Amino acid sequence: MTRSKPWGGRFQQATHPTLERFSASIHFDRALAGFDVRGSIAHARMLGAQGIVTEKDVATLVEGLETILSEIEAGSFPFDPALEDIHMNVEARLGALVGPVAGRLHTGRSRNDQVATDLALYLRDASEAAQHGTIQLRLVLLERAEEHLDTILPGYTHLQRAQPVRLAHHWLAFVEMLERDGGRFADLRRRLVRCPLGAGAIAGSTLPLDRDHTASALGFDEPTRNSIDTVSSRDLAAEFLAACALCMVNLSRLAEELVLWSTSEFGFVELADAFSTGSSLMPQKKNPDTAELVRGKSGRVIGNLVALLTVMKGLPLAYNRDMQEDKEPVFDGATTLRDCLEVTGGALATLRVNTARMRAAAQDPMLLATDLAEALVREGVPFREAHEAVGRVVAHCIDKDADLRSLSREDLRAFHPAFPAPASALTDLERALEGRSQTGGTARATVATALAHARERTQREARALGAGREVA
Ligand code: ARG
Repeated sequence: MTRSKPWGGRFQQATHPTLERFSASIHFDRALAGFDVRGSIAHARMLGAQGIVTEKDVATLVEGLETILSEIEAGSFPFDPALEDIHMNVEARLGALVGPVAGRLHTGRSRNDQVATDLALYLRDASEAAQHGTIQLRLVLLERAEEHLDTILPGYTHLQRAQPVRLAHHWLAFVEMLERDGGRFADLRRRLVRCPLGAGAIAGSTLPLDRDHTASALGFDEPTRNSIDTVSSRDLAAEFLAACALCMVNLSRLAEELVLWSTSEFGFVELADAFSTGSSLMPQKKNPDTAELVRGKSGRVIGNLVALLTVMKGLPLAYNRDMQEDKEPVFDGATTLRDCLEVTGGALATLRVNTARMRAAAQDPMLLATDLAEALVREGVPFREAHEAVGRVVAHCIDKDADLRSLSREDLRAFHPAFPAPASALTDLERALEGRSQTGGTARATVATALAHARERTQREARALGAGREVA
């Protein structure tokens, strides 16, 4: 396991075992294995095409690397913690498979441009998978929203009942958020189009590398434009984590509503048994753990973003070993988001909705106080004056414990002479909903159109992503 003089001729002593353990990254950067090997195959072929390594040796290298790729896929690759990181592991394995010719692979290359390449390839895949995850969840939300076009509940501001809305309209809000989240991952990929390979340790190489060759072999548009930036920067990784963190915050808010709505106090929804857990002590309990965990894990992904930004903020150019700390937050952010999108979809797809409880809560006549004020506006009363008058009506109802809807036209006129009809006629729930038919509103036809458009956009995005995936 222990190597003597792992860093070549300059070193007289072996690495101290404590440092060996401390500096090893193989236990996490093994996630880059497949990308690392693909990068090496592209690099080897370029060396051959440029006559830097003979075609015969390149064939040997590529054959060995392909064996390694199949070992990785089969789970039989012998990861060795003594070999520090994934790059050294692959190179050492190549040596074991093909002999001394393996020593030609690292020509014109450094682990600095190599790790940047691996990470770019990883981020390309991970951002595509994350975008795909947001699409899947949108499809679940759309299906549940379509089913609940006629389910009415109070919309809340300050967690106080505000105005009645359709459940479909409410869930479409999350569809919008998730569409922007997906867009952020797509947007990131527009910047992940330049290939780091060839930047070397910091300043390129004196060998006649063909960077365009490796770039196109790995599906990039072109090589990166500045070798120092290439090995120094992790802003694309931070951008990925920022997109993950924002998406997690949106999921967390959805989760919080599921927790809240599952309480006996609300009683709006019930998570399926398959997405809840019980208490080890209290037999009556059914807890919304799925939602709580999603809410909790948002903290962890925000932490990943902050960790990476903090690692980077004080670093001089170019590569610094601190940057090895970029990987765990990125990997964790990617897998946590993937899992959270998936379980949220499962919980929503199987959620039982208590439409009667929602409608009963939406019957609260106070939710239509704004409509009463708007009735006065239609009579030509300035809104501020109408707001004031209805405020007094509301205070009167609270004081007398009276139902707003029981007030006659005469009762209302004691507060403002312009009230055109009895309160019951001015505060009709259906009319309140149907009146809100402007773009973005909660009228039935408006929401139905919004649903259809959202579904169309989601399907278009899914098709575009699918097409991109085939090319990659
Ligand atoms: N494991 C290293 C990392 O993740 C690879 C690059 C190491 N480069 C170096 N010069 N030590 O950043």
